[in-house]
Amino acid sequence: MKTTISVIKADVGSIAGHGLAHPAILKKCEEILAKAKEEELLIDYYVTNCGDDTELIMTHKQGEENEEIHEMAWNAFLEGTAIARELKLYGAGQDLLSDTFSGNIKGMGPGVAEMEFKERPSDPVVVFCCDKTEPGAFNLPIYKMFADPFSTAGLVIDPSMHNGFEFEVYDVMEHKKVKLSCPDEMYDLLALLGTISRYVIKRVRRRDDKEIAASISTERLNLMAGQYVGKDDPVAIVRSQSGFPAAGEIVEPFAFPHLVGGWMRGSHNGPLMPVGQKNAYPVRFDGPPRVIALGFQIADGKLVGPADMFDDPAFDRSRALASEVAEYMRRHGPFEPHRLPADEMEYTTLPGVMEKLSGRFEDI
Ligand code: F6R
Ligand code: MG
Ligand code: MG
Repeated sequence: MKTTISVIKADVGSIAGHGLAHPAILKKCEEILAKAKEEELLIDYYVTNCGDDTELIMTHKQGEENEEIHEMAWNAFLEGTAIARELKLYGAGQDLLSDTFSGNIKGMGPGVAEMEFKERPSDPVVVFCCDKTEPGAFNLPIYKMFADPFSTAGLVIDPSMHNGFEFEVYDVMEHKKVKLSCPDEMYDLLALLGTISRYVIKRVRRRDDKEIAASISTERLNLMAGQYVGKDDPVAIVRSQSGFPAAGEIVEPFAFPHLVGGWMRGSHNGPLMPVGQKNAYPVRFDGPPRVIALGFQIADGKLVGPADMFDDPAFDRSRALASEVAEYMRRHGPFEPHRLPADEMEYTTLPGVMEKLSGRFEDI
């Protein structure tokens, strides 16, 4: 019998401004998931938040894209929204794009990462949750975990990983996907992955046996809704050890706080800062963007854990570097490359400014 892990997330309201999901929302979600566990729809669950996003980490036997699971998550977010409205939380229901559930939560606003697998004798899994960034933020670290031997030693020295991994990449603009294998097609893969706002890794599988290794949420709210309605803060599930990267190899890429799109008004580049749960609260200039890593052992579907993996002093230097880079980037004010290019900004007055100035532009 296979186990499914579903991580479904949405921002349904926060304090103060787009900061921190309110504990009352998390509590309500926990109540609903506890009931689903009692009714044996879920085996186990863990509710958490990264910044203003509420994350539902769930295990069950229903497989991916299961209507009952998705509907239950949707209802949890709806009830969370009702509380958010009552408390006049900021952005109440901001990621719920529809009033009624229609079979699958995908395309309705929340972000989804799921995977189904037959449990190994011991199955460690790491769940990553980000705030103030976009799905392409995972391109660089996931690439490094599964394809960069300077980051993951096992690619070179562990025979069970030596044949490499296959990456499923989505073109989120054209709604197409392509599979590329590493190490053979590494340069083609990198040619795509460098365009983080368009090409995003959806899944990674081990080449030898096509076993699922990683799954990432690729929803882009701003593309789904046709207009800006909220951030696409992503989540990812990564399997670890015995033929997959070791837990330490999975978190290692985040020691480099790479630049990602998001931060203030979803319109700025900034460093992705790895933090323990207690610091998953982006404040300075609504940021800089954050990522948390929660480690679990999966035992007959039970979520044993979590271990708060970035709550490790060995990441202090990465956080210090992220703060320094944040300071450096902030000094650019409204100039690129701190501010995103015009077509990537989620708020823009540019068309209005252009219209106002239209009569004043002269030929050169
Ligand atoms: C970015 C984000 C925040 C808001 C900013 C303005 O993803 O959530 O930086 O964009 O706080 O928010 P509004 O427009 O709601 O006043
Ligand atoms: Mg928000
Ligand atoms: Mg958010």
